[in-house]
Amino acid sequence: MHVATDNGSIVGGAGAFQFDLTVPGGSVRTAGVTVVGVLPSHRRRGILREMMRAQLDDIQERGEPLAALWASEASIYRRYGYGLAALCGDMNIPRTHSDFVRPVERKGTVRIVGHDEALTLCPAVYDRVCAETPGMFARTREWWKSRVLDDPEWRRFGGGELSVAVLEEDGRPQAYALYRLNFSYEDGVPTGKVVVLEAMGAEPEAEIAVWRFLLDIDWMASIEAELLPLDHPLLLLAAEPGRLRFRVGDGIFLRLVDVGAALAARSFATDDDLVFEVADTFCPWNDACFTVRGQKTMGEPDLRLPVDTLGSVYLGGFTFRQLARVGRVEEVSEGALDRADALFRTERAPWCPEIF
Ligand SMILES: CC(C)(COP(=O)(O)OP(=O)(O)OC[C@H]1O[C@@H](n2cnc3c(N)ncnc32)[C@H](O)[C@@H]1OP(=O)(O)O)[C@@H](O)C(=O)NCCC(=O)NCCS
Repeated sequence: MHVATDNGSIVGGAGAFQFDLTVPGGSVRTAGVTVVGVLPSHRRRGILREMMRAQLDDIQERGEPLAALWASEASIYRRYGYGLAALCGDMNIPRTHSDFVRPVERKGTVRIVGHDEALTLCPAVYDRVCAETPGMFARTREWWKSRVLDDPEWRRFGGGELSVAVLEEDGRPQAYALYRLNFSYEDGVPTGKVVVLEAMGAEPEAEIAVWRFLLDIDWMASIEAELLPLDHPLLLLAAEPGRLRFRVGDGIFLRLVDVGAALAARSFATDDDLVFEVADTFCPWNDACFTVRGQKTMGEPDLRLPVDTLGSVYLGGFTFRQLARVGRVEEVSEGALDRADALFRTERAPWCPEIF
């Protein structure tokens, strides 16, 4: 935590978790920036700016090449070099319109488990999904206990308790769902909903099966889920995709704190090379030309871009061509946009399933 004080009283704060964030081809030490705020009595006089300065200097000193955050006021962070790195979606599915386009073969068996068992079974699945999904961060046992599986009354918002379903095949956990059953009736007709807090599978069939389980729970009128990845399988599986009411919003923002180390830490889809001229006024140690694999160079640039653009393309959530269309990257040598997009291409949409 960094705090700002006035006459010995704390008037602002900014924190950061130390995460291992999955990036294409590996994982990178990342500052997970959180709980940023300044008291209403002390706003608009530069306190946030000073806290961002101190925080980024410390992150650089600790040797964490990336910083990531969820923004509640998205307009604030680009000036500090953060770029929108991923989108995510919400669904609100009426159960009566939740058929799949073709029947799926049921895999494994679903078991509803207590929180003690969940503490072993869910991480076994999560860790496998995390290892191959850019944007996810490794969770410690303490994180699972105190953040994910902790279920105090105030977190329920009047809904049901936290339920955990685990799908196993040959005794091995392959998928899980954390959800609440919020019961309600009108005129004797069920109007309740399943609120999905998190659902994922280590294998595609297991992920599909756990979603089928959620969609088939009796007495529920609808299924609500938030923070879903943009390449969610239901989009292609649903017989009526429009009925998913998939609504897209902003996901995590990413800042390359050490451009060279961050580029060196991810893998690329081709052997090509390129030179980026990076503009970074807030962290001037990055204000230089870099090869795509993170070496500082005096070579001629192929692309010119502000550092937040690198944050937007780093996990594969956006393409250079998309950013060029909105004026956030300049193609200096012909064909460089396509070459950069071929280099940065990823298999999966980046996904951060949890607001931290
Ligand atoms: C957002 C917040 C942290 C800003 O703190 P602050 O000390 O007033 O900010 P500063 O005075 O240092 O301003 C820094 C820059 O951000 C801009 N800014 C400040 N608040 C902003 C807001 N709510 N929306 C958009 N821009 C904002 C300022 O104009 C300034 O821009 P500039 O440097 O380009 O001139 C503070 O208003 C707050 O605590 N808000 C409620 C909690 C919150 O929204 N936290 C952010 C969670 S992601």
